[in-house]
Amino acid sequence: MRTSLYYMKRASRPVIVLSAVTVIYYTQWWTLLLPGQNAAPPLAPIDSVTALRHMVSSHNAVIEGKPSQGAYNEDNVTALSKPSQGTHKEDNVTAGGKPSHPPLATDRYMIYDCKGACGGWADRLKGIAIAYVIANLTHRRFGIRINDIPCPLREFLLPAEVPWDLPDSLDLKSDAKMYNRLGSVAFYNSMPSVNFSEIFTARVTLFKANLDYFDLLKKNARYERQLQWMRPLTNDQIFARIFHQLFRPAPRVDRALQSALASAKPSPDDRLLCGHVRFASNSEMLRDTMRRHTRDHGHTVLRFLQSLDPASPLFNVTTATAALPPSNATATAALPPSYAKADNYRFFVTSDSKVYIDQAGEVFGARFVRTSGQFVHVDRKGGQRGQEVCEGFTKVLVDQQLLARCDVLVVSMSGLSRQAAYIRGTDSGLYCILMTGQLIQCQRRHLRQLYHVIG
Ligand SMILES: *[C@@H]1O[C@H](CO)[C@@H](O)[C@H](O)[C@H]1NC(C)=O
Ligand SMILES: *[C@@H]1O[C@H](CO)[C@@H](O)[C@H](O)[C@H]1NC(C)=O
Ligand SMILES: *[C@@H]1O[C@H](CO)[C@@H](O)[C@H](O)[C@H]1NC(C)=O
Ligand SMILES: *[C@@H]1O[C@H](CO)[C@@H](O)[C@H](O)[C@H]1NC(C)=O
Ligand SMILES: *[C@@H]1O[C@H](CO)[C@@H](O)[C@H](O)[C@H]1NC(C)=O
Ligand SMILES: *[C@@H]1O[C@H](CO)[C@@H](O)[C@H](O)[C@H]1NC(C)=O
Repeated sequence: MRTSLYYMKRASRPVIVLSAVTVIYYTQWWTLLLPGQNAAPPLAPIDSVTALRHMVSSHNAVIEGKPSQGAYNEDNVTALSKPSQGTHKEDNVTAGGKPSHPPLATDRYMIYDCKGACGGWADRLKGIAIAYVIANLTHRRFGIRINDIPCPLREFLLPAEVPWDLPDSLDLKSDAKMYNRLGSVAFYNSMPSVNFSEIFTARVTLFKANLDYFDLLKKNARYERQLQWMRPLTNDQIFARIFHQLFRPAPRVDRALQSALASAKPSPDDRLLCGHVRFASNSEMLRDTMRRHTRDHGHTVLRFLQSLDPASPLFNVTTATAALPPSNATATAALPPSYAKADNYRFFVTSDSKVYIDQAGEVFGARFVRTSGQFVHVDRKGGQRGQEVCEGFTKVLVDQQLLARCDVLVVSMSGLSRQAAYIRGTDSGLYCILMTGQLIQCQRRHLRQLYHVIG
């Protein structure tokens, strides 16, 4: 029996370790915050936003996005390597043999281009997702350009069902124009009626954006037939589907993921209990409006995970039964019946604070899963820098994928967390540490309301 299980007593103040990598990939610079620090009841409609001062002029813009009432299906989309959705080819023929849309304009492009500031990885994924849908709606070729990582995106992710590589021959100078829609509430609010062809007129359209547009876009009557597929889905399901259509792990990420899974889920019956707590708001601009998780919130998450751990003095059979239905492997004749085999439990906690991760490691000891890749200090210079940034990016991708495979997942105020929950594809075992410090059971389609964000 370990003696270090009660985390609270041992905790020292977490030191936030910021790094080139975490600064780039954990931030949500442009994610818009809704007024109010306290969590709204899950179904409370969003009726206003506070936009970033620097980027958006229209304050208090009306958002029509109420939680979707559409059919709610648990989609099978957790396996990154096995995209679950039907293939989307650039075909111009429907099942009935009639042309379904004009042939793809092979010389027209819609390119997600992360040039200059474009936010963290979660922001980028949101921009990529909407860029892909716009490309499809306007019959353009789709492409992704991310050039601020020293290694090409292809080294981390490969196209799954949809190509997004750009031909080397593509001339991005002539006929190309950048449309920056980062943090634009006006763009967000235009979704129900926008005609994308009227906005994006350049033959080679370079585009960046970072909000979650699908609930509003679903209402757009211009594209009624083309958007049919997303109408019964909730925003999280749409995101997960697009993610799997676009990406599968490249060997570099796959190797790291498989190696993490080998210790995280040695057998399918093992339980992986996870949390992600983002402490910092690495943003100068949002200093006064950004809300942060405190170290108490971090403690709450660890205490909750301990309450599910049969080896912990904090084990609470009521909580554990609610979070984790018993499985055969975890069941024994001993009491408590379903949770007696602590060896079947693994813990994965990730964060932008290395100190917090290390504290979690102390709490869970040998059953704590670590992913490789390191926190890189901003001031670290020299020849190693580029490779370290690539390793740091690998870690972000692997961490997100691992979070998406957890039996219990606690998310925090972070796009990375939310998307992991979306990709995970189920509400079972999903919990939220709110900005109030309260830890509640939650559902994917309510996460934006719970955290007062529209991204
Ligand atoms: C997931 O897929 C399996 C096999 O295709 C199917 O039996 C199961 O019902 C699906 N689960 C959900 C929640 O759709
Ligand atoms: C469009 O359909 C025609 C006739 O079915 C077919 O010959 C052609 O290859 C298709 N074009 C594309 C781009 O799929
Ligand atoms: C968008 O606008 C263009 C030009 O005004 C028009 O030709 C096209 O039909 C419109 N598309 C949709 C989907 O409304
Ligand atoms: C792309 O367009 C086709 C044809 O309209 C549609 O069937 C398909 O669902 C669309 N895919 C996405 C991801 O929007
Ligand atoms: C166990 O958790 C439940 C809520 O899930 C709580 O009501 C109860 O007081 C806890 N029991 C102990 C012994 O802490
Ligand atoms: C659990 O064990 C029972 C009885 O041995 C078996 O019927 C059932 O399929 C098992 N369930 C799982 C999930 O393995």
